[in-house]
Amino acid sequence: MCGIVGYIGHRDAYPVVLKGLQRLEYRGYDSAGIVLYDDKDLKLSKTKGKVADLKAKLEQEISTNGNLGIGHTRWATHGQPNDVNSHPHYSNSGDLVIVHNGIIENYDALKKELKTRGYKFHSDTDTEVLVNLIEDVQVQEGVKLGKAVQIALNQTVGAYAIAVVDKKKPNEIVVARLGSPLAIGVGEDEYFVASDASPFIEFTNNAIYLEDGEMAVVRRGKGVKVRKIKDDALVDPYVQELQLNLEQIEKGGYEHFMLKEIYEQPNAIKDTYRGRMLANKGIVKMAGIDDNIDRIANAKRILIVACGTSWHAGLVAEYIFEDLARIPVEVEYASEFRYRNPIISENDVIIAISQSGETADTMAAIKLAKEKGAFAFGVCNVVGSSISRETDAGAYTHAGPEIGVASTKAFTTQITVLTLMALKLGKYKGTISNTTFMYHLQELNTIPDKVEMVLQNNEHIKAIADIYKNARNCLYLGRGFNFPVALEGALKLKEISYIHAEGYPAAEMKHGPIALIDEQMPVIVIATRKGHYEKVVSNIQEIKSRKGQIIAVVTEGDEEVRDLADHVIEVPESMESLSPLLTTIPLQLLSYHIAVMLGKNVDQPRNLAKSVTVE
Ligand code: F6R
Repeated sequence: MCGIVGYIGHRDAYPVVLKGLQRLEYRGYDSAGIVLYDDKDLKLSKTKGKVADLKAKLEQEISTNGNLGIGHTRWATHGQPNDVNSHPHYSNSGDLVIVHNGIIENYDALKKELKTRGYKFHSDTDTEVLVNLIEDVQVQEGVKLGKAVQIALNQTVGAYAIAVVDKKKPNEIVVARLGSPLAIGVGEDEYFVASDASPFIEFTNNAIYLEDGEMAVVRRGKGVKVRKIKDDALVDPYVQELQLNLEQIEKGGYEHFMLKEIYEQPNAIKDTYRGRMLANKGIVKMAGIDDNIDRIANAKRILIVACGTSWHAGLVAEYIFEDLARIPVEVEYASEFRYRNPIISENDVIIAISQSGETADTMAAIKLAKEKGAFAFGVCNVVGSSISRETDAGAYTHAGPEIGVASTKAFTTQITVLTLMALKLGKYKGTISNTTFMYHLQELNTIPDKVEMVLQNNEHIKAIADIYKNARNCLYLGRGFNFPVALEGALKLKEISYIHAEGYPAAEMKHGPIALIDEQMPVIVIATRKGHYEKVVSNIQEIKSRKGQIIAVVTEGDEEVRDLADHVIEVPESMESLSPLLTTIPLQLLSYHIAVMLGKNVDQPRNLAKSVTVE
């Protein structure tokens, strides 16, 4: 939610900040703004709309450059997305400018107090309150910008990643974080600040990730000074060398990031198990599990917390863990779990699944479970993310950056990691035989090639998309391991095409949803041969006899469902527990093509943002 970026150094700041905003646009895209310092003054421009709209505006408005600048791309929380509420925000004197990702929860009380001291507010944002609070501290206490930021932040409740500049001190940017990510790129006599490393990866791969509750003063020619916001203690910053490269964050010839990421899945799955699994030797090495094997294997219960697509991966994992490791699993929406006084004991292990590693609700759920003594394990994609740091141990998915707002490769790689975990625990506990263990590994090893084969059905899936693109509603049905895939298929369609879709366990149809079936209703059924096949065939017959349109995802060579369904999409034969890695792919492609045909913005669907750092 919201991306912030900043530059101070010897280059023109404008192109660096603008391109940085384009890279961060996945975080929010309802308005954007930039401020540049041109040796005399701050020049600010902002607008409702996308970074492209800002660029068009800037070409008319900003005639000057300068080598200090900060920018923002917004996902609105307080106040509508309009020009006035867009960031950056000036303080009343016009000396300070801020960009902010997060929410200042006590902004109303602070605003009232500032108003009594004569401050005026032009926007509805919490951010404008914060910049004036900082100014007020400067005025009242006569302190420098860094100190003023620190004192002001200690009066706030909420979450933030901020960058602040002061016209009177044009050689520094002050940044701080609590609950929202912030990275500082360290170049040769130049520094970058950003919500993630993508804006600066082409200039440097050295980065400092601020920890929660830290702030930094970044000074031209003088370096970076990091300290704790609460107690002022200086921190020795750890400069990390990033493995990211530019190619990974560009479209590479694909029309959309989502399509690129769908096609990346064979390699992403391989990257997830590479170095962890030696299928022929029967070895699974996962440091996060190996170092804590007794704690995790002896858990009385595993609690999985996640949101959205990651929650669906959690549901698949529930089946896999219970099947292989015989540990009871509960899968919870992080947003519900955190507020319902859950019963958690020291014998529980909580697994948090999150692509971004920044989802606020998932983060809060982990903190709650840890407070009650549970051991926390993170399954994240973004290296160094907040959740990966908050958890006691973890395993990265290594899917590479996922930029399309709709999750695709994150889902399949999460399932891959969770399968490896379950296998490892099952082997250790003796709940699966060595033969079963070996068989799973060998089957997992074949999955990337099988995903490749599913992708070859793209044109066929596109033709099906063309037939159903004008549907108003869709049902997705699956059973067992493929029930969560039905939920995920429906979510994909909803979020990028805005067509109403619901996922159900196929057998639940007759308890209500079957009333929806008529000749207008496309029903996408996952009917792989090994998964309760006969039962699903009966469910298909029930739909057919009510004139529903069936699109079935079936195992290669299937004849029975082919005779019943209006369309079939084949996937290669696989173990049922691994089939979600295959059956998900056609559903991703179907949604993608429908959304493209409807002219929707696939990579940046309306009202959404890639990482949800607010509740
Ligand atoms: C759906 C989607 C979201 C995310 C959810 C959790 O395509 O992308 O539902 O899955 O916001 O995000 P992470 O995994 O980053 O915690």
